Amino acid sequence: MPILAIETTCDETAAAVIDRDRQVLAAAVASQEQIHQRFHGVVPELAARAHLERIVPIVDKVMRESQLAPQDLTAIAVATQPGLPGSLLVGLAAAKALCVAWRKPLVAVNHVQAHIYACQLASADSIFPCLGFVVSGGHTNLYRCQSAEDWDYLGGTIDDAVGEAFDKVAVMLGLPYPGGPHLSRLAEQGNEQAYDLPRPMVADRTQLNLSFSGLKTAVRYQLTGTGKQDFSQLQLDDQIKADMAASFQRAAIDCLVNKAELALQQTGLERLCVGGGVAANQLLRGELRQMCERRSVSLVIADPELCTDNAVMGAIAWEQVQRGNFASLEIDIQAGLLRGG
Ligand code: KG4
Ligand code: ZN
Repeated sequence: MPILAIETTCDETAAAVIDRDRQVLAAAVASQEQIHQRFHGVVPELAARAHLERIVPIVDKVMRESQLAPQDLTAIAVATQPGLPGSLLVGLAAAKALCVAWRKPLVAVNHVQAHIYACQLASADSIFPCLGFVVSGGHTNLYRCQSAEDWDYLGGTIDDAVGEAFDKVAVMLGLPYPGGPHLSRLAEQGNEQAYDLPRPMVADRTQLNLSFSGLKTAVRYQLTGTGKQDFSQLQLDDQIKADMAASFQRAAIDCLVNKAELALQQTGLERLCVGGGVAANQLLRGELRQMCERRSVSLVIADPELCTDNAVMGAIAWEQVQRGNFASLEIDIQAGLLRGG
């Protein structure tokens, strides 16, 4: 009997019906890109309202596509942390209501852990133990993952997440939201050595923390000279934009690959699992592959469509179902990330 998984942590409303063997019976994602585009970023209030409009139709859609009746479900899983409070509340309220109406148990999913678990859907063997690396719009964190439920935080960004840096630099280059995929497409036409950008914290081999806000500011100064912030007034030549996109992307990816390698060295773990929106980036995927081959470490990266937010990665809920780890209907959201994972 499958589970229904719901995901509303940020700006995608998603649902999926997933069987015990992780077979996906139905899945859908309703993106809010159109809504947030003119603000160059997610507006939390608008995101919550859009989830409210979409949650019932999307659950209805996956239930119909899976040709299941509510009584066929084992449980209802929902991401309860971390994320935008209003967005999380819509998903949790919907899941609780369905649990009451359909008399099903609730499973609370950690969104960051689910991003790593998306790798399990690309691997026939268990991905545990592994070094888990989440590279998304909200998080850039390294974890020692002993099992699906036993995680230790090793380090991560001390300021912006890497996806956030991609998105902010994309705004400077006049690209649409969300900027990451647009920036990496533009970078294909640029020279990655055109601009000398910093690799913050990479030289520090004593810690696994990362930082992206200085890199983002360095881009700003190189583009404006004076640090002037009104990028809409800036008339940048197409080649300058492509060169900056390529140089920034290379610097950001150098930072990620470098710290992932240091974490492998320090932990002795023999498998690296990478998830989150930025893991869809082709240059990052290629560079991680080369680094892992060099170190004889196995690499699992979620399929690109399972890197960005989706409900299929809610398959991690099966691990909790198997341990009888259900949530009370009294459970609240947890907007911030608990460092322990
Ligand atoms: O995992 P995700 O969908 O949402 C969060 O949990 O944050 O990640 C979204 C982030 C955005 O910052 C987006 O620009 C970035 O992932 N992203 C990419 C690419 N595809 C998505 N960044 C770089 N290259 C890509 N191909
Ligand atoms: Zn996410």
